[in-house]
Amino acid sequence: MWVPKGLEGVIVASTELTKIDGQAGRLIYRGYDATELAGNVPYEAVAHLLWLGGLPAEAELLQLREKLGRSRALPVVVEDFLHSVAKVAEPLSVLQTSVSILGGLDSTKSASTVNASIALTARMPTIVASFNRFRHNASPLQPRADLSHAANYLYMLTGKEPRPEHVRALDSYFTLLADHGLGASTFVARVAASTLTDVYSAVVAAISALKGPLHGGAPIYVWEMLQSIGRPESAREWLRECLAKGDRIMGFGHRVYRTEDPRSKVLKRLAKELVKPDLFHLASTVESEARELLREDHPNRVIDTNVEFYSSLVLDAVGIPPELFTCTFACARSVGWTAHIVEQRKDNRLFRPESEYKGPADLDLHGLQKTEA
Ligand code: ACO
Repeated sequence: MWVPKGLEGVIVASTELTKIDGQAGRLIYRGYDATELAGNVPYEAVAHLLWLGGLPAEAELLQLREKLGRSRALPVVVEDFLHSVAKVAEPLSVLQTSVSILGGLDSTKSASTVNASIALTARMPTIVASFNRFRHNASPLQPRADLSHAANYLYMLTGKEPRPEHVRALDSYFTLLADHGLGASTFVARVAASTLTDVYSAVVAAISALKGPLHGGAPIYVWEMLQSIGRPESAREWLRECLAKGDRIMGFGHRVYRTEDPRSKVLKRLAKELVKPDLFHLASTVESEARELLREDHPNRVIDTNVEFYSSLVLDAVGIPPELFTCTFACARSVGWTAHIVEQRKDNRLFRPESEYKGPADLDLHGLQKTEA
């Protein structure tokens, strides 16, 4: 059986986690609209929903918060690694290697899948924040168990008590990015999990896929694009040149959505509240000019803003440096990756598709076609 390149439209797994309606532009987590969850329930409650099947009662939420809070600290071996590479290595690779080290430690090997998911989700922000502090000649801060997941991340990055509006915005971002069906990284995580490898190794695989600019690597390019355009009046010409060179406009287009990404609408609202009016005006001008140009080029295909376009503004506004945008995406998505790993393991079958061989047939050791005897 031949399936389309990129597996477009092919169903390769069943899930109770996330439904995406690409035509209507809706994203649903276990029956709840992700855009309604964002900002109305804390990210930890969304994690509970995805990992454990339902939104938590108050006591369950407290218990999960407490568990996350006490799992945040890093083993010394990971801290030492972060210290040694902080000045020379690229952030997402460092996060990936740190996750890999965590997974190789005796203390993590025996954890149940859900407990490993919680511990990993708790530690990923500590890895990113500690790395960033080493990078800037500062010592890492001890994580604070009294703060929410989002608040603790901001605290560990900046060393300051985070502003409530920044915590709310980052918490909403985390919820909106928590899961998204079988995006390339989640698919890779499920493929790895299908071999019965451990949670950490499956997440290491997912991070590799997230790194590419067609997936989670985009927000820094969106940020650089906005910096490079500089003024709203320059947007149209800049975008025209970009398209004329055959380049893609970052933060636009999606494999599944045939309308505006619903996450983008929420992030745009947050960006409007948080960023300086000039920057918001620049971004919204770029958005409308790009939409128009892409419509001219592709009248039969809707190419609209995806989650990455306004993410870059929101993350910058809450104090996250652009080089950590994709790591922050990974911190948010750790819940979705691990929930998919848990789900894959519950009803597992090893992923093993086939490929159509198009190479040469029957060569001898001199590289010549073998002749029939
Ligand atoms: N800018 C310009 N043209 C585009 C864009 C874009 N952002 N997106 C799609 N197109 C064009 C393609 O050039 C192609 O044109 P053609 O048919 O004339 O060759 C057509 O639209 C279809 O493109 P595909 O690559 O088939 O669309 P696909 O569904 O595979 O692409 C993708 C999805 C990879 C996200 C694409 O839209 C893209 O590259 N966007 C820019 C990068 C980006 O924003 N990535 C973040 C995605 S969101 C996330 O992963 C969390």
